[in-house]
Amino acid sequence: MATLHELVLPRPDDFHVHFREGTVLADVVRHTVLQFGRALVMPNLKDPVTTASKAIVYRQAIREVLPEGSDFTPLMTLYLTDTTTPEDIAEAKKAGVVAVKWYPAGATTLSDHGVSDWRQMDAVCEALAAEEMLLLIHGEVTDPQIDIFERETRFVRDILVALRQRHPNLRMVLEHITTKDSVDFIHEYGHQNLGATITAQHLLNNRNHMLVGGIKPHFYCLPILKTETDRCALLEAATSGDSRFFLGTDSAPHAQSAKENACGCAGCFTGYAALELYATAFESVGKLDKLANFAARFGADYYGLPYNKGEVVLKRESWALPETLPFGATLIRPYHTVSGQLNWKCFQA
Ligand code: DOR
Ligand code: ZN
Repeated sequence: MATLHELVLPRPDDFHVHFREGTVLADVVRHTVLQFGRALVMPNLKDPVTTASKAIVYRQAIREVLPEGSDFTPLMTLYLTDTTTPEDIAEAKKAGVVAVKWYPAGATTLSDHGVSDWRQMDAVCEALAAEEMLLLIHGEVTDPQIDIFERETRFVRDILVALRQRHPNLRMVLEHITTKDSVDFIHEYGHQNLGATITAQHLLNNRNHMLVGGIKPHFYCLPILKTETDRCALLEAATSGDSRFFLGTDSAPHAQSAKENACGCAGCFTGYAALELYATAFESVGKLDKLANFAARFGADYYGLPYNKGEVVLKRESWALPETLPFGATLIRPYHTVSGQLNWKCFQA
């Protein structure tokens, strides 16, 4: 087959990104804006985005760092806590917030204010369904007895099954799935109210990449990388043309010093080369033709949003990934492929 040199994609959406705040915000946002028309912005700030008014302030801060003339749209989320009320949900809806993020307390970075008991979420879930807002799920149990590599599977089988029975009309996204089990679960139970995002790092890496030949902190994220069997199942799902699987990078920047540390933070900064990374994964199984729907249509359909106007172009071009990128007063070491190279480069059409 002839080698493809250029791939034109409809301008895509990132349905899961961490922009952070303050002095680093502009340095993070600028990468996403170059590739995506919209991004769903996670609310796990130091002071989490728990109310409509905080979401409005955060959205404004993001808009202020957009490049001149940009029509990029930040889609806002609310951070669910034990004290979130149905009134909070109604107000968020009025403010244009599209979804609520459920972090089980203690599951991941800045999740301490998350939900301590999911059985107490009924009133909020009913309000979300009534307002036609989505529930976004960090799907890991937090019981210290449960092995870190089992936490997603246990969550899906023990909690998600029950939650879906209680709220069949609530539209949910199981975020950043990492296991064959989760893929099977979506195939088994997925109907219009259950979708899943998949990150680039979980399509490209397994846990050996992180742990064999020295520990590689820049591959460490949560949910943690799993086995090669899991990676292959995710790649098969992402490239299958099944509209329940769509793009969410979970690009999650941390200062280099916070990751290369005795207690390193979870999160991979992939946003600077997101489409190139997904293209690399899709090309590895000869499925580049499936990238446009995964990146630009399935997520928008699931969220009930119109497609973006415009296009982006991926050109076959080898480049060495940068060692560091600016991050406010500090630096980030961005996520690297194993080779430190990419063979695609994204341009605005
Ligand atoms: O690796 C992760 N980093 N997983 C998450 O769920 C949160 C994120 C972050 O905010 O750094
Ligand atoms: Zn995330």
